[in-house]
Amino acid sequence: MEHKADHLAAHEVASNRSSDREVVQRKRGGKVSRHCKRFWWLDLIILAIVILIILIPIIFVAIPKKAQHDLNQSTLEVTSQEVTSPSPNGIHLKLVTTAKSSSKFHPTIEAFRAGLSIEGKEPFLYVNVPETKAEAETEIVVENDVTFASLDQFIDYNKVVMGSESFVVNMDGKTKLKLGGLPRMSVNYNKIITMKGLNKLNGLNITDLKILQGLTGENKTLSDGSNLIGKIIIPNPSVMLLDLGNVTMNLAIDGKAIGTTLIPNFILKPGNNTVSMQSTVNKALIFQFISTNYTDAILPTDIVGNSSIANGEHLTYYENAIKSNTIHLDLNVGPAMKAAGLIQ
Ligand SMILES: *[C@@H]1O[C@H](CO)[C@@H](O)[C@H](O)[C@H]1NC(C)=O
Ligand SMILES: *[C@@H]1O[C@H](CO)[C@@H](O)[C@H](O)[C@H]1NC(C)=O
Ligand SMILES: *[C@@H]1O[C@H](CO)[C@@H](O)[C@H](O)[C@H]1NC(C)=O
Ligand SMILES: *[C@@H]1O[C@H](CO)[C@@H](O)[C@H](O)[C@H]1NC(C)=O
Ligand SMILES: *[C@@H]1O[C@H](CO)[C@@H](O)[C@H](O)[C@H]1NC(C)=O
Ligand SMILES: *[C@@H]1O[C@H](CO)[C@@H](O)[C@H](O)[C@H]1NC(C)=O
Ligand SMILES: *[C@@H]1O[C@H](CO)[C@@H](O)[C@H](O)[C@H]1NC(C)=O
Repeated sequence: MEHKADHLAAHEVASNRSSDREVVQRKRGGKVSRHCKRFWWLDLIILAIVILIILIPIIFVAIPKKAQHDLNQSTLEVTSQEVTSPSPNGIHLKLVTTAKSSSKFHPTIEAFRAGLSIEGKEPFLYVNVPETKAEAETEIVVENDVTFASLDQFIDYNKVVMGSESFVVNMDGKTKLKLGGLPRMSVNYNKIITMKGLNKLNGLNITDLKILQGLTGENKTLSDGSNLIGKIIIPNPSVMLLDLGNVTMNLAIDGKAIGTTLIPNFILKPGNNTVSMQSTVNKALIFQFISTNYTDAILPTDIVGNSSIANGEHLTYYENAIKSNTIHLDLNVGPAMKAAGLIQ
């Protein structure tokens, strides 16, 4: 870039000198020639001013506008998002993103602070984006301990993540671009990022149910009173890893509470998750359902979030999200009931 500019300037000076020579030759001995000889420095100044008049708008208007335009055109994709160490006021966030640009400029984007928000809302948190050299494809890793800018907005964001097949996050900030020897250019960084959500945990299933009973032996109830254990299979179509803490869900059949289930230290990873659950259920009520309305032992179960607790503290942003989502599952308790000798 600098080389090119030097070359151009040299070229213009050279062509200017040769035109000077022509003028000198044509009007040899004339007044103009004497004028030129005496005021050659004035010509140089005028030339310099003309060059500046042309260059200044290019440097201060056209190039920054082009840079902003190309930045606008670039896309940002989140390839991984890890949310760990949750506390009531903040999280540890690791975002791995890929920026793509077809621009022929490859500026350095200065480190800046960017707000993340759901469109039209205030930001739920701010991240520090590190200095980045923009290439056709650039991986940008943002890793911060963050405090929420607004807990209410973060709650809404998590509801959107939970309930959507795909959703949009806005990333906004102001930064400066460095391009060769040009003055730094102020630009707005506004990106719209489309991501996959948890899609209401569609496809959730419960398997390997086992009823625990008695005070001793291999099948005794757990110390917290859990009398039903099993595995929960949860598909996570997003790129998000979420540390949800100790999660409890309410279980109900036909609107009647039959108990709660705990997923201890629940870390939801991208892809299919299989996690252990332990439930405390009202066995007498389940038995009643099986002997009256659901004699095939397939219980139409509603599962809805109750709490999400880490280090003894409620994570209200996850709690609101899981409470807003009811999962319906036809749960076959027949094999577990038979194995426990409760039904034939
Ligand atoms: C860049 O995008 C913003 C909207 O995000 C728009 O207001 C602005 O005019 C765009 N600038 C250029 C140079 O395209
Ligand atoms: C859930 O798991 C049970 C037991 O493994 C299986 O029989 C059932 O087909 C599964 N349901 C769905 C919707 O995948
Ligand atoms: C998750 O499990 C479903 C059903 O068992 C399967 O169709 C899907 O391919 C699995 N996805 C991944 C990422 O393994
Ligand atoms: C079975 O269904 C009937 C009619 O829907 C209802 O009145 C009754 O309470 C149900 N029994 C149980 C145990 O829920
Ligand atoms: C959570 O479960 C407990 C019973 O373990 C119940 O008393 C409480 O009301 C539930 N809370 C919510 C919000 O569902
Ligand atoms: C979940 O609960 C268990 C038992 O109370 C506790 O040991 C563990 O630290 C809790 N996990 C988190 C993330 O708080
Ligand atoms: C424990 O439960 C399994 C099935 O879940 C059963 O096969 C076994 O006999 C039970 N053991 C005792 C001591 O009840």
